[in-house]
Amino acid sequence: MAKKFKVGVVGAGGIFRAHLPGWMASPDCEMWAVCDVVPAAVQGFVAEMKANYGVEIPPERQFTDYKKMFKAVADGKLELDMVDVCTPNTFHAGPTIAGLEAGVNVIVEKPMTVNAKYAEQMIAAGQKTKKLLMVAQSMRFQPESLLMKAMADSGALGKVYWGEAVMLRPRGVPAWGLFINKDASAGGPIYDIGVHVLDFTLHCMGFPKPLAVSAGAYLKIADKPSVMKHDPKKYTVPEDFASALIHCEGGITIVLQASWALNIPGGRANVTVCGDKGGLTLYPLTLVREEFGALTNVTIQENPYNGIASHAEEVRLFIEAVKTGKPSPVPGEQALKTQKILDAIYASGKSGKEVTIK
Ligand SMILES: NC(=O)c1ccc[n+]([C@@H]2O[C@H](COP(=O)([O-])OP(=O)(O)OC[C@H]3O[C@@H](n4cnc5c(N)ncnc54)[C@H](O)[C@@H]3O)[C@@H](O)[C@H]2O)c1
Repeated sequence: MAKKFKVGVVGAGGIFRAHLPGWMASPDCEMWAVCDVVPAAVQGFVAEMKANYGVEIPPERQFTDYKKMFKAVADGKLELDMVDVCTPNTFHAGPTIAGLEAGVNVIVEKPMTVNAKYAEQMIAAGQKTKKLLMVAQSMRFQPESLLMKAMADSGALGKVYWGEAVMLRPRGVPAWGLFINKDASAGGPIYDIGVHVLDFTLHCMGFPKPLAVSAGAYLKIADKPSVMKHDPKKYTVPEDFASALIHCEGGITIVLQASWALNIPGGRANVTVCGDKGGLTLYPLTLVREEFGALTNVTIQENPYNGIASHAEEVRLFIEAVKTGKPSPVPGEQALKTQKILDAIYASGKSGKEVTIK
């Protein structure tokens, strides 16, 4: 029997539980090591693995410090082929770089990190050791998204020139975890939900190079007791809403809007990408183009991707890429472009001026 890939997790919290079915479904992998700064999280995960899957993770493969875990790998004391970094945003870069430098392939949660400098260091670490780096932009792997990307790639849009990426919640400040804590998350809705729709819009457009951003980033209502529902002092991230106009090469523009709290009549989540031959909107998935001399909406009766679970799918594709040597399903180089836009949104929101991206 072929040797299985040994898998570790750094940050055994909420989102890792969504990745876990993907790992457990793979005949090529075995869950091998766990690291979490909270000892109870390590113990909880170890107990869960035993109870739910009959998998033992003995004490020598349990860690509360990722540096010690990857040192054990580098010293040849721990075997690890892949690691799933599911820590809060500000702790993505550290374990990713340490993992790649120790010769471990890394899948890291979104947003890739919290500034372009760290993103570049993460990419460089993977290049140095020739290990795979994938950013878990899960929205790409939802059934509608998979089909929309296939439709965009078919050429049905012609020359693409405009995109709209919207994830607006009237009231939807996360009341759990560390999302509202600046030290852990660095940003609010831009990093939590804006990054999903922005990444997917860029993905459908073939990742044009971003050139400049003009944005507003506001903290107006999310830290009010009526909106927060819990201690408003805990709200330390810089924004509850952001709106941006992003200029990309080729004359392409993208409008991005993301909120956790905004005085609008209802929530909106969508991605639209338009070209000179047609336009695509994600929800409900619709292709708009001229047919028979009429402006026509093409809608989907049966999506062949239905049934795919995005988090398990991204893990499956990561494993496949490591196994076959295929390119990363979400390369760091793409996420770096997104990160540069996110950096520019915060900078422009602060200065009130357009920010050029280098
Ligand atoms: N793709 C998605 O749809 C999606 C959804 C939710 C969260 N996320 C992302 O996943 C990440 C984690 O979010 P979550 O909801 O799972 O948070 P969480 O708080 O539930 O889990 C994070 C875990 O990381 C641990 N941790 C913190 N710092 C650490 C460190 N330095 N080393 C090791 N462990 C550490 C915490 O103790 C916790 O157990 C965030 O970056 C978030 O943006 C993505």
